[in-house]
Amino acid sequence: MCGIVGYIGGQTAVDILVDGLTQLEYRGYDSAGIAVLGPSGAKRVRSVGRVRDLEAALPKRLAGKTGIGHTRWATHGAPSEPNAHPHTDVTERIFVVHNGIIDNARDLRLELEADGVELTSDTDTEAVAHLIARTGADNLEDAVRQTLARLSGTYALAVIDTEHPDRIVVARNGSPLILGVGDKEMFVASDISAVVRHTSQVVHLDDGECATVTASGFRMFNADDNRAVAKSATTVDISPDDLELGNHSHFMLKEIAEQPFSLERMLSGRLDERFATARLDGLNLDAQAMRRFKRVKILGCGSAYYMGQLGASLIEELARIPADAEPASEFRYRNPIVEPDTLYVAVSQSGETADTAFAVQEVKRKGGTIVGLVNVVGSTIAREVSGGIYLHAGPEVSVASTKANTHMAVGFALLALALGRVRDLSITDGTRIVKGLKALPAQIGEIIDAPGDVEQAAKLLAEAPSLFFIGRVRGYPTAREGAQKFKEISYRHAEAYQASELKHGPLALINPEMPTVAIVPDDELLDRNIGALHEIAARGGDIVAITNPGVDLPESKVTLTVPKNEPELDPILLMIPTQLLAYYAALSLGLNIDRPRNLAKSVTVE
Ligand code: F6R
Repeated sequence: MCGIVGYIGGQTAVDILVDGLTQLEYRGYDSAGIAVLGPSGAKRVRSVGRVRDLEAALPKRLAGKTGIGHTRWATHGAPSEPNAHPHTDVTERIFVVHNGIIDNARDLRLELEADGVELTSDTDTEAVAHLIARTGADNLEDAVRQTLARLSGTYALAVIDTEHPDRIVVARNGSPLILGVGDKEMFVASDISAVVRHTSQVVHLDDGECATVTASGFRMFNADDNRAVAKSATTVDISPDDLELGNHSHFMLKEIAEQPFSLERMLSGRLDERFATARLDGLNLDAQAMRRFKRVKILGCGSAYYMGQLGASLIEELARIPADAEPASEFRYRNPIVEPDTLYVAVSQSGETADTAFAVQEVKRKGGTIVGLVNVVGSTIAREVSGGIYLHAGPEVSVASTKANTHMAVGFALLALALGRVRDLSITDGTRIVKGLKALPAQIGEIIDAPGDVEQAAKLLAEAPSLFFIGRVRGYPTAREGAQKFKEISYRHAEAYQASELKHGPLALINPEMPTVAIVPDDELLDRNIGALHEIAARGGDIVAITNPGVDLPESKVTLTVPKNEPELDPILLMIPTQLLAYYAALSLGLNIDRPRNLAKSVTVE
């Protein structure tokens, strides 16, 4: 949350900062600002709203080749111009942008006020700017280091100083930060999307590290003891086109449409047809190590957690290992018992979700084995885990996650297959799953190309103030994710329930104003699911059913069908129409689909 960008080099900084902030807007979009060091000193411009509002507020000419920028997702203080970053000190010498939360900000602010400093914002970050300016250190690096020693909490910081316009000093603790290495120019950013148009060479900072960034390069050092840290740049393989809308009206629709191709890429080289298993060298677990685990525990947040539930169900079915998923945000706070014979799996699109990253650290600290299913290569979680499966979904820009979720589900299917085949999953069943996985991309393509009456169903649902998503056993995680997507972007109350639990209470809510989206795979539980639909229809509730061809559901008002795969993999296909339902419902309500209110992608605060 919150996006940071910085530039130093031969070009006009403001253009690069605004472009970078536009790319980072998915991290927060309630206010934005920049500060540039030019020939006539520092110039700061901030505004409430989107980056385009900041652009409109900028002067026509803004010279300066060093600058920092920020797009905010409010934590301390409401979205307002005084609370927007960059923040500065009383003499307007130091300018700071920050992502994260300074836990002891209240004490620091009180201390500054007691010293006569007049604070102009409600933020934690402003205190940092004053503290840096007041250290009395000879150089910016020491001033930043001395200030960091006084902070507790999380931060990615970029700092500029009118007295040292030849540098940006950056620091990281718990919030992501990278450097982009150009030709006689350098970039600073929360993630690569802000720099990928300019360079493919990036350096990741780790916690506790700082860097002095100049036009000709960077010097990295430890915040604690100033010891030099040797790091070199790695090449990222994202093309700027991946971040463009192309012919699509929204990133969400673009990302839904990309799934057949992105999945094909993800699966390539990972299916071993001869031995009916998955090739997952990146896990760094050989067959013996894989057999050692008596349990699997999956940790993720939000949609990633729901995909973890889907994954746990796949692992139990295919590998017959007890598996469950838990929100990483809960796990980390409850002094969890970490067992040596449990395989922990962290799942995350961004690889930067603070709650998941802390859960990983908790498992590691207690000696557990933790691997990752992560999309963003080189991200914090990807670097913390001992191995993993990169999701290769490509960049996901829409705040509401779609393709990354599908890739997570497929990643878990691969993991379940590999764990199963070193245990009791027969070669016949392994072959069945390998074939099913190979068929998935084309089948998803079929759903997207011929989605049936999905727009009609979405309109029906969008008119209701509240709705249920129901699924049973394998179908329940799909229902949970469907409800999550729907509420995120349509702002309608959508609650997921196990179909089996309806009659134990929630059936009381069913009436003609309360529709239900039912996940009804053609599997051994079909009769039971049809029973639940009868109960809903008998109480006047409208039903949108997502099912397989040939299933007759006269109770349902709109029936959407998806091709049949193997029963274990069907929940993945049944999820695709839920993505489209959420999209078209938000579209019919005229809402901001890619930037839903109050949310941000990549939740890097706790
Ligand atoms: C939902 C959504 C969030 C994320 C969650 C975890 O559409 O995007 O619920 O799934 O914040 O994010 P990652 O996967 O980046 O750890």
